Amino acid sequence: MRRIGLAAGLLLGVAAATMATAPGSAQQTRSAAQPWMTARLSAEQRADALLRAMTLEEKAGQVSQQFVFGDPAPFEATVRDGKVGSLLFVTDPAVINRLQRVAVNETRLKVPLIFGYDVIHGFRTIFPVPIANAASWDPAGVERAQTVAASEARSVGIHWAFAPMVDIARDPRWGRIVEGAGEDPYLGSAMAAAQVKGFQGLEIGAPGHLISGPKHFAGYAAAEGGRDYDSVYISDSQLYNVILPPFAAAVQAGAGNVMSAYMDLNDVPAVGNKWLLTDVLRGQMGFKGWVVSDANGTKNQVIQNFARDEADAAARSIAAGNDMEMSFGPAASASTLAASVRAGKLPAATLDQAVRRILTAKFRMGLFERPYVDEAAAKTTLADPSHRQAAQAAAERSFVLLKNDGTLPLTAGAHKRVAVIGASANSKRDMLGPWAFQYDLPETVTVFEGVRDRLGSAITVDTAPGVQLKRAVPSMFESISIPGTAKPEPRWDAARAATEFDRAVQLAKKSDMVVLTLGEAEDMSGEGASRSDLKLPGDQLRLFEAVMALGKPVVVVTMSGRPLELGPVLDRAPAVLHAWYGGTRGGAAVARTLFGDVNPGGKLPVTWPRTVGQVPIYYAHNTTHAPKDQGKRYWDIPSTPQFEFGYGLSYTDFTIGAPTLDQATLAPGGHIRVSTVVTNTGKRVGDQVVQLYIHQQAGRASRPVRELKGFQRVTLQPGERRTVSFDLDETSIQYWSSATKGWMIDPGTFDLWVGASSNADSHATFTAGGEPRAGRGWR
Ligand code: NOJ
Repeated sequence: MRRIGLAAGLLLGVAAATMATAPGSAQQTRSAAQPWMTARLSAEQRADALLRAMTLEEKAGQVSQQFVFGDPAPFEATVRDGKVGSLLFVTDPAVINRLQRVAVNETRLKVPLIFGYDVIHGFRTIFPVPIANAASWDPAGVERAQTVAASEARSVGIHWAFAPMVDIARDPRWGRIVEGAGEDPYLGSAMAAAQVKGFQGLEIGAPGHLISGPKHFAGYAAAEGGRDYDSVYISDSQLYNVILPPFAAAVQAGAGNVMSAYMDLNDVPAVGNKWLLTDVLRGQMGFKGWVVSDANGTKNQVIQNFARDEADAAARSIAAGNDMEMSFGPAASASTLAASVRAGKLPAATLDQAVRRILTAKFRMGLFERPYVDEAAAKTTLADPSHRQAAQAAAERSFVLLKNDGTLPLTAGAHKRVAVIGASANSKRDMLGPWAFQYDLPETVTVFEGVRDRLGSAITVDTAPGVQLKRAVPSMFESISIPGTAKPEPRWDAARAATEFDRAVQLAKKSDMVVLTLGEAEDMSGEGASRSDLKLPGDQLRLFEAVMALGKPVVVVTMSGRPLELGPVLDRAPAVLHAWYGGTRGGAAVARTLFGDVNPGGKLPVTWPRTVGQVPIYYAHNTTHAPKDQGKRYWDIPSTPQFEFGYGLSYTDFTIGAPTLDQATLAPGGHIRVSTVVTNTGKRVGDQVVQLYIHQQAGRASRPVRELKGFQRVTLQPGERRTVSFDLDETSIQYWSSATKGWMIDPGTFDLWVGASSNADSHATFTAGGEPRAGRGWR
């Protein structure tokens, strides 16, 4: 796939270069009249040249972006009138070209549009949801996944992905926990950087790639009560040590764009927060690209009681460093910014700076030379079978085995009649998870289909949903018309519910074994999908009890984008495999895992609570009193998690040896190499994720009991041993201290553990040498 994309890109590039240099060509004439078309200038110089030719109204249009839903025809006038510099949610290459032709042929300066889209976990080929990808603990695999997603989206003419979402989420009530890498800044940073590289390739403008826009800057996941969009109050210490590191990693990986968050951060809307968008993002992190608001984020400042009116909102977000306004309907920026500049409410240079950043991205993407997409080529890219193979491999690496008494793996053929039961057991749409729109439903493989295909025709495999999963409040995506997306099934009435329940139990009864899927429907996590509870929704627990009462062999496959309260299931089910939402090939991957063709090696990227009342719960907490009673903070239940961060079982066994350090002291500017030997002591090939945690014993702030500082996923044959090494340096021990309001390094003793989860118990210590000093921060 990469080869095809690269070759096509090179051909287009050559064609464009030929056009630009051919004597007497239209292109050459254009560059004489339009200095910004001079190819030898840098993207920034070209942007400056174009900026000099622009009117204030044209500049205001460039910083405006609109959603396109439904009929694209009315948007032609919007483009022709220069009211937008970018559109989002157009995915048909013919429509992209049609709107682009208006921009290029019918506007005064012929500035092409940049098309953005939510390419979150695949485009046509859907990969596992992001939290599942994080559970692979395999950044290289995640980079490959986003490379495929980029190539598919670029093939239809999209230039820019609103991804990755790098919000650290410690509250599973928040529905968008599914879109990120979980609770940990170190794992989150690795996943953030990998995804940016996958989307963007070696540089912005690489053929077959997209600009990556990490989001939502910053703190969105800490919404009060887990309620999507609600206010966020976090300390500076949490912001610097927990929330911001994945953004810094994405910026260091070269992300061309950042999306600002919807909500207030400590009472200041993120989109109008100059400290956040300019001082921190640009000044401290060194971000050079452009910032886009979230949908209507700019105008929202009025309802947030921050901006007086939409004109004030548009001017203040630009002044804060939010360069582009994403808008449902006409953007406030397009209609008000020119007047604000003329009235002296917004410095002309501030608007210019925002426009320059956007134009620079357009030049770097080659849009002025190659504004159009090859409509025919998209079909070949989207049909590439290697993309489906990549999606299946990603799914297989994402599953987490939560419990196994030895029932798994199953032996194919051992049971003649198999029932695959559950609301999502044969639901193609649920297999894909939220934030997928361009999927191909027929090619999506459910758990039922996967098991049926894996077992072949000699075995009878049947399915029944048993229960239906419905939100009490419909999903907002039900009201948006997105072509090609599946219509939700109407709600069952009581009679239908009773019939379906009995049918499923009868099917289980006449089968020799049951694969039971439990969890949430895909629209129960994602945007606008927060919940107050983590119990299995609907009648699933009753179905589970009814199936268990039959005394048949049962294995449970859980599917959800968040941890769920599984106590009653874990108490009785012999085996539980957490399969998230596995994407296009998810069902095939589940079947291969259940039957032992692959050995699960995923690990939880979030602490899994016993019950919602423990939330927020995360491993990297501080200890402030009575550490021995850390697990007894409640009188009713243990305050320990159901499963700790980093947890996941395998069909084989591993040992992880004591850590050895090449030196006992981390000298200023130096490093320590930590090694351990991991051995597969079981009888199957399998993967282990070796994890390294540290803890600072004393310093100028209290530090968490453990912090992840290294991990490596290794595949070992039965009996195989491997030495795994990690490097610690000053960046591993620096932290931001609210005592000094800066990055700190404290000399002293540190604990260190290596192991297979955040409960790792192979311990050593090391000393950080030197004097108390400032840390390097992100630069
Ligand atoms: C709102 C979401 O918060 C954001 O993540 C997404 O990229 C935009 N809408 C565009 O769809």
